[in-house]
Amino acid sequence: KRLILIGPPGSGKGTQSPIIKDEYCLCHLATGDMLRAAVAAKTPLGVKAKEAMDKGELVSDDLVVGIIDEAIKKPSCQKGFILDGFPRTVVQAQKLDEMLTKQGVKIDKVLNFAIDDAILEERITGRWIHPSSGRTYHSKYAPPKVSGVDDVTGEPLIQRRDDTAAVLRSRLEAFHKQTEPVIDYYSKKGTVANLHAEKHPKEVAVEVEKKSADLS
Ligand code: AP5
Ligand code: ZN
Repeated sequence: KRLILIGPPGSGKGTQSPIIKDEYCLCHLATGDMLRAAVAAKTPLGVKAKEAMDKGELVSDDLVVGIIDEAIKKPSCQKGFILDGFPRTVVQAQKLDEMLTKQGVKIDKVLNFAIDDAILEERITGRWIHPSSGRTYHSKYAPPKVSGVDDVTGEPLIQRRDDTAAVLRSRLEAFHKQTEPVIDYYSKKGTVANLHAEKHPKEVAVEVEKKSADLS
């Protein structure tokens, strides 16, 4: 299976990804996570990406297309993958099509995490992350057993630099202007399934399962 998860910041892409990944043994490619790791390690890629990320703007198509091109060629991704946060522009979607055509494969399904903007600020400002595992918590909706501490390792949780109400506004603007056209791009190919992303995470998981079950 080759799946794309599209949705605004806080719509639940990162929350649902591990569930899908475990069920189908797919590799999870999240460009946001990869870029944050590059920023933390101060690699040349991270240095180039940091400014745009801090402002809530998209980094250049060339940078992210390069990351994905490298990742999907890896042996561990040959069985299938979940793309979380990519493609985010029509140019990225076209480049992805070119890469997949070369490999003789295609995208099976695009899961659209449809949700009202009004719900997202609370989700984003309440999010806490365990950086090394990617485990995500929410102070109200998915609290850790001990406040500020990862359930599994006992290590401290952090908040993302871009998870403020002000930066969220730019991220939402980028989503509506640059990423919504990507949903239209895939709708024309008939591969989009819409989810009710405002529901409880467990209900969203059931929808995700149903809507990707018709795939081999
Ligand atoms: P990225 O990391 O992709 O961030 P994003 O798209 O803004 O998405 P989020 O990670 O904020 O949301 P999510 O849907 O994963 O939410 P989550 O499940 O954690 O990108 C960051 C930056 O990198 C971009 O701004 C850009 O600069 C750059 N970038 C990345 N990819 C790029 C690309 N392709 N091109 C160019 N630039 C790129 O949930 C959020 C919170 O809500 C959590 O606390 C969770 O516990 C809670 N929650 C989840 N589901 C529910 C629910 N159903 N009910 C209640 N609470 C819930
Ligand atoms: Zn995410």
